[in-house]
Formats: sequence, C-alpha cells, structure tokens
Amino acid sequence: MTNMNEIKYRFPDGFWWGSAASGPQTEGAAAVDGKGKNIWDHWYEIEPNRFFDGVGPDKTSQFYYKYKDDILLMKESGHNSFRMSIQWSRLIPEGRGKVNQKAVEFYNNVINEMIAHGIEPFVNLFHFDMPLKLQEIGGWINRETVDAYVKYAQTCFELFGDRVKFWFTHNEPIVPVEGGYLYDFHYPNEVDFGKAVQVAFHSILASAKAIQAYRKLKQDGKIGIILNLTPSYPRSQNSADLQAAKLADAFFNRSFLDPSVKGEFPRELIQILKDEGFLPKIMSGDLAIIKENTVDLLGVNYYQPRRVKAKENLPNPNAPFMPERFFDHYEMPGRKMNPHRGWEIYEKGIYDILTNLRENYGNIECFISENGMGVEGEEKFRDQNGMIQDDYRIEFIQEHLKWVHKALEEGANVKGYHLWTFMDNWSWSNAYKNRYGLVSVNLNKDGERTIKKSGQWFKSVSEHNGF
Ligand code: NOJ
Repeated sequence: MTNMNEIKYRFPDGFWWGSAASGPQTEGAAAVDGKGKNIWDHWYEIEPNRFFDGVGPDKTSQFYYKYKDDILLMKESGHNSFRMSIQWSRLIPEGRGKVNQKAVEFYNNVINEMIAHGIEPFVNLFHFDMPLKLQEIGGWINRETVDAYVKYAQTCFELFGDRVKFWFTHNEPIVPVEGGYLYDFHYPNEVDFGKAVQVAFHSILASAKAIQAYRKLKQDGKIGIILNLTPSYPRSQNSADLQAAKLADAFFNRSFLDPSVKGEFPRELIQILKDEGFLPKIMSGDLAIIKENTVDLLGVNYYQPRRVKAKENLPNPNAPFMPERFFDHYEMPGRKMNPHRGWEIYEKGIYDILTNLRENYGNIECFISENGMGVEGEEKFRDQNGMIQDDYRIEFIQEHLKWVHKALEEGANVKGYHLWTFMDNWSWSNAYKNRYGLVSVNLNKDGERTIKKSGQWFKSVSEHNGF
C-alpha cells in the first residue's frame, strides 16, 4: 500500500476519514426492546413486494447486536469518525411522549464504544424514518410533527450531547419529499406537489428550530444538515438550456441549501410557487426562525450530476404539477457510467459543489458526508481468500478525492470525507441489491463481515492522510 514518500495528495491534519450509515439501514432489531414502528416497517408489512427480493427493514445488518465488533472493523478500515443516525422510533416509540430506556442504553453504548476507539461520532437525527404514529397524522405535513421533532432533537442533545460534538438535523431532507410526494419511492407514495412543498417547508422549519434548541443548551459542539447536492449541467450554453439548468438547481439544490446556509429561499422558486398557487402554510415568525438559525457546518452527499435541457414538448396541462414542467433530463453522450449500477460517474462534480460553496455560500465549513459506488452482484469479485477485490471502488474514491484535494488547494473549507458506507447495508426499496461497503456482509452466513480490498486501502489513506 501507500508509502509515506509516495504521497501526492496530502490532506490537512485532522481531516475526517470515515463513513456514514443510518439506523434503519443497519441496526435491524426493528421490533425489539420497545422500538416503535416507522414508515419503513409499516410499508414493508403492507407491501413487501416493493422491496428487492422481498427483504425488509427487519433484516438489516444487525448492528444493534454486533456494534462492538463493527466498531473494531471501523478502526481496522481507518475510521477516525463515523456518521450514524438515531432512530426516532427507537428512542421515542410513538414519535412523541415516552422515551425508551433500552434505546438510551443502546445509543449510549454505541457512542461510548466509538469514542473509546478514537472514532468521533457524528450523529444525524432524521434519516427518512418517520415514526408511524406521526405519519398517521400526516407526517411532515402536520405542524405537530415539527413540534414533536424539536422535542425529540432536544432529548437527544440532552442525553448524548456531553459526548457528541457533531450533530445533523436531517440527512437528504429532499428525498422524503421526492420519494413520498412526487416520484413514488417512499411511503406514503403520493403524487401531490402541494403536499411536497409543505413537507419541504416543515422539514426546513424543523431543522432551524432544532438548531435554535441546540444553541440554547450551550453545548460545545456544532450542528449542521446533510444535503444531497446534484450540480445541474445544461446541455448547451443557449439561454433556454441555461434557464432549465438554473431552475433544476433551484428546485433540487437551492430549495434546501439556501435556507440552511443563508436563511432564505431562492427567489425564482418562490415566484413559481406563487404563480402556480403552491405557497406552503407559513406561520408568523417561521421565516425569522429560519433566517436566524442557519447551520454551523454542511454535509455534502454527492453521487452523480443532473444533466438538464430545455423542455422539448409543452407540458400536458392536465398532468399533475411537477418540477419537470420546467426542464427535461438528458443523457450526455459519452458520459462515464458505473458499469455495476446505472449511475453516471462525474468526479469533477464534487469540486464544482465545493467551489460553489466557497464562492456563493460564504465558504461555509463543510465535509463530504456521502460519496460512494453501489455495485450489483459484487460477490463475483470475491477471491479465493474470501476478499472482495473492489479495485473499481478504490479508483472511484481516489478520483473523487483528487478533486476534493484540488478544491482544498483553492481554499475550500472542506474538513473530511465520509464514504457511503461502512458495511454493505439495506438500501430502502433496493434492499441489498447494490453493495456500497468497505466491508462486505454475507446474508447467508448470519451477516458475516469481511473487509474488502477498499477497506484496507482506505485505512492506508487515513493513516497517511493522503495517497
Ligand atoms: C443516500 C442516503 O443517505 C442513503 O440512505 C442511501 O442508501 C445512499 N444515499 C445510497 O443511495
């Protein structure tokens, strides 16, 4: 592996190396020790066929039982930090009300174990896992959910904030909006732009209120949000394509980025919502709370760009209103594809995001909170010694890191790189179809873990702080 003298891309001292995961995707034990149901448990019960191979959230990697060994493996794969999420429905089974002491014990154990091994815990509060009881009153559509969330956040700060110094209010909050209310891949799988807007607004408000609650406690940590940013590239420089890319950016990036970092909403988006009659319900004081409680730091999830062109056909006026009324997507000829999963790979996108944050968002402190390569059928790369030879993943990470390094050299305020993910995990309706981990999980052998070649490589990068 890398030798100290051969390091070409050196990262600043204290750079965070690690990975990210979420509670619902790793813990398992979905109905154990008092955990309440969330929307995933429920959706699986009523529509198991929506999940790849019929594998549901009860079968995830059993981190609930195996966390001690898993944390040792984090160490073995070079982690100095790791992002986990607390499952709201484990801590507060009905979303509001009684706190589950078994959950307090579990999260205390996990946090303490990480710290004992020199792994900084980054804790996220909401990773798509709405407690079912709250979904029954409308989930994020109902303002009561915002209050319940703030209470939940406060409970977490009070219970764990003496040791957790990096908090995140949401992971990819636009995804439940898209999945649940526009494109049918999260429960409650409706298509309703008005509801989507209300869900988005309440998620943003909830984030700002949780930040406000955190600051009131005067704990000595930082609080941020994790956003999936997809740079929007126009097909050409003609004005219609440029305008299409600009609007896609406003819908899918700036809708959450601007309020989170600047405390305000993109003007062009507000104009569209006004013109089309989709402004959300806002109460007096909400906008001031959003303005005053912006994030300390930003997590950036980056997988692939968005390729956009002007609309070629007039939208059908009778079709439900969708952001795609303003642009079309297209496949750029010659683009590089992940051969093991149909996503474009465009490494420079990560640099474009960091540069945009430096130039247009006050160079907010940030880190790469997810980036990674999903691979279908990865078992075929296992060698005779039982190790997955995932050179493609090493190359993927390396090529992205080169661009992060370049952004750093140009002054980007980027503090770390977390891969998605530590061990192969359950990806929502795709279940275990695409493998992302530095460590493989064999579902046929009681979830046996084996470190992949990328895990060994990642350790060497982290130890040398570069490659
Ligand atoms: C984004 C999400 O945070 C995570 O839950 C998901 O599984 C990965 N990306 C991979 O698509």
